[in-house]
Amino acid sequence: MKRLEQKIVQEGIVLNENVLKVDSFLNHQVDPQLMLDIGRTFSQLFEGEGVTRVLTLESSGIAPAVMAALQMNVPLLFARKRKSLTLKDDLYTENIYSFTKQEESEVTVSRKFLSSVDRVLIIDDFLANGDAALGLARIAEQAGAKVVGIGIVIEKAFQPGREKLIEYGYRVHSLARIASLSEGKVIFATDSGD
Ligand code: G4P
Ligand code: NA
Ligand code: NA
Repeated sequence: MKRLEQKIVQEGIVLNENVLKVDSFLNHQVDPQLMLDIGRTFSQLFEGEGVTRVLTLESSGIAPAVMAALQMNVPLLFARKRKSLTLKDDLYTENIYSFTKQEESEVTVSRKFLSSVDRVLIIDDFLANGDAALGLARIAEQAGAKVVGIGIVIEKAFQPGREKLIEYGYRVHSLARIASLSEGKVIFATDSGD
């Protein structure tokens, strides 16, 4: 997605060779017009899949995911990282390990909102090691739902996330693919990765 790549070049800050900071439009301040464009693009990419729910992880996945859900006219459901007041029996639960943060968190989704009739599109802001997306996929599968695809806003193609997701048989689409963050510069991959 050209507009997204331009935004990354203009406003992204390369913190080190592994981390890109994009808090002016995605991770802190949010650019709603860009998110709407992102949502439209996801909706086109997964058209014909019969998506019934978009699933993401709070907090940074919510902005792009809600725009995709808006375009597809389905609900957005976000997995929660904080403990909810709901009884544990009423929740799907998965542990997700963050390699970046070196910590494990328990994420939950209410059983009320996900079931075996669902066709789920998973959306996330970043793809690094793939553990967040895989955890969300396991939650959908606990519910007996079908994961029809995984949509990522920014993929770090030099990290192993995509390979892992493909190995598990998921269809992955990323809107920006970063081949390298070496020497303080963002280099995009020349192919879509699909
Ligand atoms: P993974 O899911 O692909 O395995 O990635 P990882 O565990 O390493 O990611 C942990 C957190 O760090 C996630 O946010 C993810 O979006 C974010 N992240 C990973 N790489 C980058 C990067 O290069 N730049 C930025 N800005 N974020 C990155 P989170 O903990 O879920 O927080 P939130 O932002 O959703 O609240
Ligand atoms: Na994030
Ligand atoms: Na995230």
